[in-house]
Amino acid sequence: MVILHVSAECYPMAKAGGLGDVVGALPKYQKKLGDESMVVMPMYATPFLQNNEWDVIYKGNTHLGDWFFDYTIIQEKTNQLGFSLFLVDIHGLLDRPKVYGYNDDQERFIGFQVAVVNWLSHWTSPPDILHCHDHQAGLIPFMMKYCFDYEVLKNIKTVFTIHNAQYHGAMGWDKSLLLPRWDTWKHGLLEWNNSINSLATAVKCADKVTTVSQTYMHQLKFQSAGLESLFEYEQGKCVGILNGIDNELWNPATDPMVPFHYSIENFEEGKRKNKQFLCTKYNLDVEKPLIVFIGRLVGEKAADVLPGAIQHALDKTNCGANFLVIGAGDTATESALNYLIQLYPGVYNTFIGYDEKTGHEAYAGADFLLMPSRVEPCGLNQMYSLRYGTVPMVRDTGGLHDTVTDIGDEGGFGIRFLHATEEDIVYSVERAIGLFQDKEKMQAIIHKAMSIDHSWESVVSIYKNVYQSI
Ligand code: GLC
Repeated sequence: MVILHVSAECYPMAKAGGLGDVVGALPKYQKKLGDESMVVMPMYATPFLQNNEWDVIYKGNTHLGDWFFDYTIIQEKTNQLGFSLFLVDIHGLLDRPKVYGYNDDQERFIGFQVAVVNWLSHWTSPPDILHCHDHQAGLIPFMMKYCFDYEVLKNIKTVFTIHNAQYHGAMGWDKSLLLPRWDTWKHGLLEWNNSINSLATAVKCADKVTTVSQTYMHQLKFQSAGLESLFEYEQGKCVGILNGIDNELWNPATDPMVPFHYSIENFEEGKRKNKQFLCTKYNLDVEKPLIVFIGRLVGEKAADVLPGAIQHALDKTNCGANFLVIGAGDTATESALNYLIQLYPGVYNTFIGYDEKTGHEAYAGADFLLMPSRVEPCGLNQMYSLRYGTVPMVRDTGGLHDTVTDIGDEGGFGIRFLHATEEDIVYSVERAIGLFQDKEKMQAIIHKAMSIDHSWESVVSIYKNVYQSI
């Protein structure tokens, strides 16, 4: 089977969140299962682009409304990621350092999608499955079926995976002029709430729709920023498939970004050394439990609740724990978090920004990982933390519900709470401190956490069944 993934992110070429991790790993494991799996994404001006060698494999031209442009498809020479990675170069539109955040993002991603279908229409033998991810690739199933120039593509089956339904890629009808000539009788497929809605269009037009956990699939019918009735209506073609993690990349025994390697056999010593390293680096108290938050500082992750919750937790427990917050996002949240540094020296710190190494060091050195997310389609961080023997403290939602059981329950290995509120977080911190003080139980929980397997191997066959069903 030949599968082509279309995505705005793919680690290590470009990553803004979990989407990049998933698209950077899933194809590798699909290839291991014996299928041909490839990725096409925009050519941003990232370090990975500059530090690697590329072959030009296709040059084409098409148009975005009345703007005619040339595009080039390049391929990474060595297949070092374990699969073929293709980049779409549209000069002036995509070749910028950031993935998102420009005023013309709508034009950029429509341009990307138009170039992809144009390129695909020149393949001598097309893929069996086009697997599109999130709204930046959401118009492709529509274009393949209803754009007159791309009729040759209409029999290729499409799968659409939702990594985050909070972002719809909605735009005014004026943008319809940017799409290649399309069958206007089909305008209802583009429409949602008087706008063109890329996510809704993909849900309507793809042959199968998946999202990244079963619980989130269910929640979409109640909480998807306005698309609830659509998910209710289309549920017959929708399925929730929990993500895996790349166990080769995320392995505390070999991870080059982790200062002291360890495995399930010797985690006690390994984690202690890594914790010492982190505590020295961030001026924290190695004797106290270390709770980290790693993620974007945005409402979805409930980052706005953190400053108040951390302050209350530290006051109530008489600084019984350390907190380290790693991430960037809303500036008000960033400053509120930074303000606490002077109030709680020696037990609290922040790293505003994100880089992979800082994240890996924190998974290895922390005792607990806090994820109070309001919305969490899957969540990869709790799975990384389990693998690194860091006990997850999660709000009971989406993929967090599907991957973390509470230490109060039979066989549980995490701390779960119901609400993204200061009260629930403070209570969970008290429970974490209690667990930390019971050394024997803590070690048993870490052992249990590290033995949980979220590798991609078992997940790829589920995707394969989805492909085969269409
Ligand atoms: C998005 C979601 C996250 C999910 C990731 C990969 O970033 O917010 O929950 O794990 O995509 O699917």
